[in-house]
Parts: sequence; C-alpha cells; structure tokens
Amino acid sequence: MTPRNEHERSRNSLWRETPRVVVSEGTIKTCDFLTADEVDAIAVGVGAPVLGDDELQPRAGTVHASARYRINLAELAERNHFTAAPGTVHVIDLPVTHPGSGAVLPWQGLPLRIILMGVGRGTDEELRTAGAALATATRGLKRVVTTVAARSDDRGTRHFVEGYLLGAYQPWNMKNKEERPPAQELVLLGPNSQAAVDDAQRHARLTWFTRDLAIIPANIKTPRWVATQFTKVAEQHGLLVRTWTEKELVAQGFGGTYAVGKGSSQKPVFVQVSYTPAQPSKDSKHVVVVGKGITFDTGGISIKRPRESMITMKIDMTGAASAFAAVVGAAQSKVKHRVSALIPLAENHFGAESTRPADVISVFGGTTVEIANTDAEGRVVMADALAYGALELKADLLVDVATLTGAAAMTLGHSHAALISNDEQWAQAFESAALETGEYVWKMPLVREYDNALKSDVADIRNIPQESAGAGPIVAALFLERFTHGVPWVHLDIAGPAHRDKAHHEVNKGPTGFGARIITHVLENL
Ligand code: BES
Ligand code: MN
Ligand code: ZN
Repeated sequence: MTPRNEHERSRNSLWRETPRVVVSEGTIKTCDFLTADEVDAIAVGVGAPVLGDDELQPRAGTVHASARYRINLAELAERNHFTAAPGTVHVIDLPVTHPGSGAVLPWQGLPLRIILMGVGRGTDEELRTAGAALATATRGLKRVVTTVAARSDDRGTRHFVEGYLLGAYQPWNMKNKEERPPAQELVLLGPNSQAAVDDAQRHARLTWFTRDLAIIPANIKTPRWVATQFTKVAEQHGLLVRTWTEKELVAQGFGGTYAVGKGSSQKPVFVQVSYTPAQPSKDSKHVVVVGKGITFDTGGISIKRPRESMITMKIDMTGAASAFAAVVGAAQSKVKHRVSALIPLAENHFGAESTRPADVISVFGGTTVEIANTDAEGRVVMADALAYGALELKADLLVDVATLTGAAAMTLGHSHAALISNDEQWAQAFESAALETGEYVWKMPLVREYDNALKSDVADIRNIPQESAGAGPIVAALFLERFTHGVPWVHLDIAGPAHRDKAHHEVNKGPTGFGARIITHVLENL
C-alpha cells in the first residue's frame, strides 16, 4: 500500500526491494519447469549481424527454443525484419487451439510468449539496454525466464541484470491507481554467477532509492523530512548519523547553508552520515562525499526565469540522495575505507528573510562570500560542506555531486555529467567507473585563469563572476575548489543527466537518480 500522506510516509522507510532475480542451472533443452503454469514468457537473445556478414546471430537460447517449440525462430526473426539492435524486442504470442477442435499444437503446455531480444554484439552497454527492454516488454507478468546472460561472463550478467532492474523501476507516485508493475521474478537460465546478480541488485536498489527521493515533490520532501529519511535508512544499515539544526548551523559557522535556507519556512538541516569499516585496510583512507541538497530551487530573490525552468527544480537534491546512497553502498559491500556523506539540505526560496543579492556572508572555515546572485546557491551550501570535510574530517579525498549549472546541461545534454578535478588519478578512477556503471562523465579542464572572475570588492570571493567569463561549469568548480583546502577533489556536475524528458534504455523518464552507482563503484574499488 502506498502511504497516503506525509505523516504516514515518514513512518515507513523509503528503502525498497527491487524485483526478484534468481539463477537456475540448465538450458531450455533440459529444463522441466518451462510450462505455461510456471512461466509467463521465455526471452532468448539474437545478436546483430557482425562485420562482413548480414545474417542475424541467434544465440544458443534461440536455437534451443526453436528445437523445443518446433518453430524456426531465426527464420521468424528474419521474416519480421527483426534487426536484433539492442533495445528492440520481437514478441511472439503463440496461438492456442480452438476449444473443442481436438487439435494439439506442438508447443502445447509451453509458455505462450517467446520474446526475441536484440543484444547487438553483447557489449556492456548493449546488455544493459537489452535488459531494460526486457523489463519494459514483461511488465505485468509474473515469472519470466531468459537465457540471454548464459553465454556471457559475470560482467555480462551484471550489466544485463542491472539494465533489467533499472528498466523495471516503478516510479514513486501518489496515483490512486497503480500502473503495471514489473514482472515479479526473472529467472536466468544457465551458468550465471549469483554474486554478479547480487551486485546488480545492490546497485539498482541504490538508484531506485535516489530516483524516489528526487521524484518526491518539495511539499513533502522538506529538508527536515529528507534528514529523517536519511536517518532511518542509515540506521537500517548500521551507519552513524549526525544532524545540525538551523540554530546549530549559525552557532558553528555554517553560514552558507543558513544563508541559502533562511528564506524558506522550512528550515535548513545539515546531515553527516558515516561508515567506518570493521576491518580497515592498512592504507585506510577517509573519503568524504558532498551532495547538493536543495529540496527546491526557486532561485531565491534572483528568481528563476523563465518560470517553466522552475518546474524540474525538485531534482536539485539529487546529489544529496546519491551521496547518501553511495555511503549505504560502501557499507553493504564492506569497503575497507571510511566514507562519510556531508549533505547540506535547504530550500532556496524567497521571503522576508531571504538573502539579498550583494549580501556578504561567511561560510564554514571563515571565508567570506558575496552573494551576487541567489540562484547560484548550490555552490554556497557546498562551500560549508567541502570546508567541513577538509578542515574537520581531514578527508583524504573529497568528492562532490551536484545539479550545479544549467550550462553543464547545455554543453553535454542529458547523457553525461561534467567531471572536473584537481587530481588526474582520481579523475581517471571516475572515468573508468562511468564505463562500468553507464553513468557517463566527460572531463572538463579546471582553467585556473578564470579564477579572476570570482574576485569580489567586498568579500574573499563572489558566487558568480562580475563580468561573465563564460564556462559556467568551470567557474562554478573554481568557486568550489576554494573550499577544498588542498585536498584531492573530484567534482561531478550532474545538472544534465539528473533529469530526462524521455526514457532512454535503462534510464527512466523524469528524475533519474544519477550519481549513486558511479560513486559507489569508485568506493568499492578504492
Ligand atoms: N539548480 C540550478 C542548476 C540547474 C539548472 C540544475 C538546470 C538542473 C537543471 C542551479 O542552482 C542554478 O540555478 N544555477 C545557475 C547558476 C548561475 C546563476 C551562475 C544557472 O545554471 O543558471
Ligand atoms: Mn539555483
Ligand atoms: Zn540549484
């Protein structure tokens, strides 16, 4: 049952289970449970033509299914101009006999649906895409069996299942009528690794959680509400939580979070979530992940224009949710390093108490900031968190993740986040994690020369340039770097990929929960 109101909602934890995926030895040839009673659909793989050849490449499952059903599936695929491109499926609904006719069809008793799935050449990305397409094609069914992952290695299994579970996502909603849920169970036939499936499950669940939080509207997800959710889920996973109230923020010098949050009747909250390994490695590091947690961004007094651009601004806390999820992910896979998330939560609203353009504030660590534009608020709350991570937590690596600049979305669109770093090796760790998770990044240079643009006449730094310097994502990163106090740092500007207007393979329409998997992957491989 979906909770009906805010009160009910905050009593339950937001942590949800993804659909069941189980592995089963055997093949279509030998399996005895492939009957209409037990299975709703069988999905088999077809590869795209390889170079120099224009024939489809039916995989073993397709060949075996052809034999068992006594239907030439490869021929059927050709006849229907099936290209086997990843993401395409061809569903074959088998007919049953006319009642009373006495006829017996060769496939009597077998499942009534065969799904031919395009898997291209079976690359990581193609398998994720195929998995997502299968999830879409099987919504509303109970039990689906597939052979697709059988011929690939553990890595292939992981990508296929991750694509499937991400594609199976059932968006959080307050509809009175539920939409068709994903199939309850996916059975992988063949020698698949359970560990690879578990890995995919864990990663997909982190993304489901991040998506849910980003989708929930700002009238529900106030800073206090989000802090409560984080606390509950953190406790479920044995993590330590510390929160700061608005009063404590003021008293302890977190002036950035306070300045951004004070215009709203929903007061700001700052959250620290920490994982400490039971058995740290000898070279154990402390990684601090900072996530931008603006529960809604009106722009403040420098109100957003055009007004339509405000509609998606409930996603402005995607960084917060993914930073939090990454700590949960690190704990679940028992990473041998300390990991903390620092999450400033605030609503950037306008009101009698709002910060004005040209106000001067002081952030954690004492740096003074001239707020020239209240819509450049993300960098201001993150300044507190980065400085706290560097100065108080003595981080060995700072990572930050933020829906920071519209310019990043203008440059890279919705497929890639902008990655900016002061450390080549850590940047590379994220670039390779991007390929492993499908959360893609593209590196931009940290052009120190543009730093001049952030000079202020009245404070140590201005939050936007006095004269436009261009290079929005880079200037924003230069602002953030001031607060890293020399600690190696990787910045992810996810303003583009945090939202999609249309579903794209394993990425859902709307808030996408970008960031949880790429950061978790880096932490797992420290
Ligand atoms: N949250 C926005 C950035 C954003 C834009 C995220 C579009 C997702 C989609 C951020 O707080 C913002 O308003 N940035 C300004 C900065 C500018 C005032 C320097 C922007 O990008 O316009
Ligand atoms: Mn803004
Ligand atoms: Zn914002």
